[in-house]
Amino acid sequence: MVHLMRPEAALFPDAESLAMGAAERVGEAARAAVDARGRFALALSGGRTPQRLYQLLAEGRGGPVDWSKVHVFWGDERCVPPDDPDSNYGMAWWTLLDHVPIPPDHVHRMRAEDAPDRAAASYEADLRAFFGGPSAFDLVLLGLGPDGHTASLFPGSEALNEPFRWALPSRAPEGVEPAQRLTLTLPALNAAMQAMFLVTGAEKASVVTDILTDLDSAAARYPAARVRPAGRLLWLLDEAAAKGL
Ligand code: 6PG
Repeated sequence: MVHLMRPEAALFPDAESLAMGAAERVGEAARAAVDARGRFALALSGGRTPQRLYQLLAEGRGGPVDWSKVHVFWGDERCVPPDDPDSNYGMAWWTLLDHVPIPPDHVHRMRAEDAPDRAAASYEADLRAFFGGPSAFDLVLLGLGPDGHTASLFPGSEALNEPFRWALPSRAPEGVEPAQRLTLTLPALNAAMQAMFLVTGAEKASVVTDILTDLDSAAARYPAARVRPAGRLLWLLDEAAAKGL
């Protein structure tokens, strides 16, 4: 494991400027990947934080993106139908994918409405077929929970110990709904060229401080601290989330 005392962090005054900064970086990554490899493989995160980023990308605020060369995947999904208000796919569809000319077969949805084991195995097969080797996404977008989870890798989750598979079922902690999830694993996330965390809000300041002041120590407690992509690791923080740094 590479010893990283402090990953690269970019600070923004508020959530809106963070979303704008993220849109610019996603656009840059897309253009670089298309120039280098003829395609941009992007894993989207769910939850609330990335919604504004997706809207800005849909408005072209990340600069020109050749959507015909973009493939989108998901870092995790709740086990609900795609039209459910809790669906990460549904959120990305309404904020971004329904507004850009991305070919339908470039939208690699997790079929989270199916039986979790079958859905995870099917997504794994799709990922392996698409990437065809050890390396994976050009860019993975990730969020952070106040408990240090990311994607649907929660503290204590069995999925954290998976050494090989790229997609697994997982369960959220008691009281967090929807409980049943699908998630990419650390091998999948860490095979990425770049991982970018988007974190806003004071409720995450404590875990952000723990992780960014000593990533290796934090890795024992927080799944997010175990994300060490093959390439670049970047944390985008607003002032409220960074107040303990
Ligand atoms: C999910 C996400 C999850 C999310 C964090 C932060 O499916 O909910 O993948 O990992 O990124 O819980 O969520 P917020 O952005 O809503 O704070």
